[in-house]
Amino acid sequence: MSRPPVILVARTLPAPCEDRLARDFIVHRPAGDCPHPWPELLAIAEGCEGMLVSVSEKLDRAAIEALPASIRVIATMSVGFDHIDLAAAKARGLIVTNTPDVLTEATADLTLLLLLGAARRAKEAMALIAEDRWGAWSPTGMLGVDIGRRRMGILGLGRIGAAVARRARAFGMDIHYHNRRRAEARVEDGATWHDTLDGLLAVSDVLVLNAASTPETRGIIDARALSLLPQGAILVNSARGDLVDDEAVIEALISGRLFAAGLDVFRGEPKLDPRYRDLPNVFALPHVGSATIETRVDMGMLAIDNLASVLSGGGKPLNPVT
Ligand code: DGY
Repeated sequence: MSRPPVILVARTLPAPCEDRLARDFIVHRPAGDCPHPWPELLAIAEGCEGMLVSVSEKLDRAAIEALPASIRVIATMSVGFDHIDLAAAKARGLIVTNTPDVLTEATADLTLLLLLGAARRAKEAMALIAEDRWGAWSPTGMLGVDIGRRRMGILGLGRIGAAVARRARAFGMDIHYHNRRRAEARVEDGATWHDTLDGLLAVSDVLVLNAASTPETRGIIDARALSLLPQGAILVNSARGDLVDDEAVIEALISGRLFAAGLDVFRGEPKLDPRYRDLPNVFALPHVGSATIETRVDMGMLAIDNLASVLSGGGKPLNPVT
């Protein structure tokens, strides 16, 4: 029998995934489950043929170039791969894989939670309970907005965007989107395509960001973009924090140009601009879009499938991004 593949696993995975790793691989891993500085991971990557990482491991050019020659594949347990320098990986002939599809529904669920939390002022309402400040029921107290009477504008109608749209339709929302190219009718499902971002912004009472972080989309929601939204719009971001210009968003939240924001992702997370913590109209969560038991098992298993297919199978990854 041939020896199991040797891999580096950067984080602790859900138990069923760990059981499979222990059975089918020889695993090198750092001590403790936390993001480890790159040099620490590098020290244990020696002799490994594959790596299983997540969004908490930033693999920039220098990190990729320093990898031992034995590494053939990097499997990230995430749909996003902006934490990996793909050009550097390609230059070294490395296969990079991700975990699309399996987290679509969980992330779309959480996007609706962000929207509802922002629209119904959940942060302020919860503080009334937590701080024992709840007075009496009031005809004018804690008024949010009806999402069913608002138009949703989705930037990036891909898998997750389409799943968000399905849910939003059930709330009675009228769906608009902007992609560079019009989506096929099955995906569009009655949504209105805008061929420019500006066109989308003009009708987005609720702007939902579902785009990947790329050089083209980083900082795309800046002061100019925000000024094109209808007055009192709601911003929802479950994609990547660096899609927005924080200064502009915070200013719009303070001035009331934005009614509220529901945010699961932040530039430079887990650190975030402290004003997001303080503003009453920010419903913020700590990057938990895919954080359900079932989904995280599925993501871990798919990342392992990708490693196995390259290292023990026919050499073809299931979800290549390079
Ligand atoms: C992803 O998969 O890219 C998410 O951001 C992590 O759940």
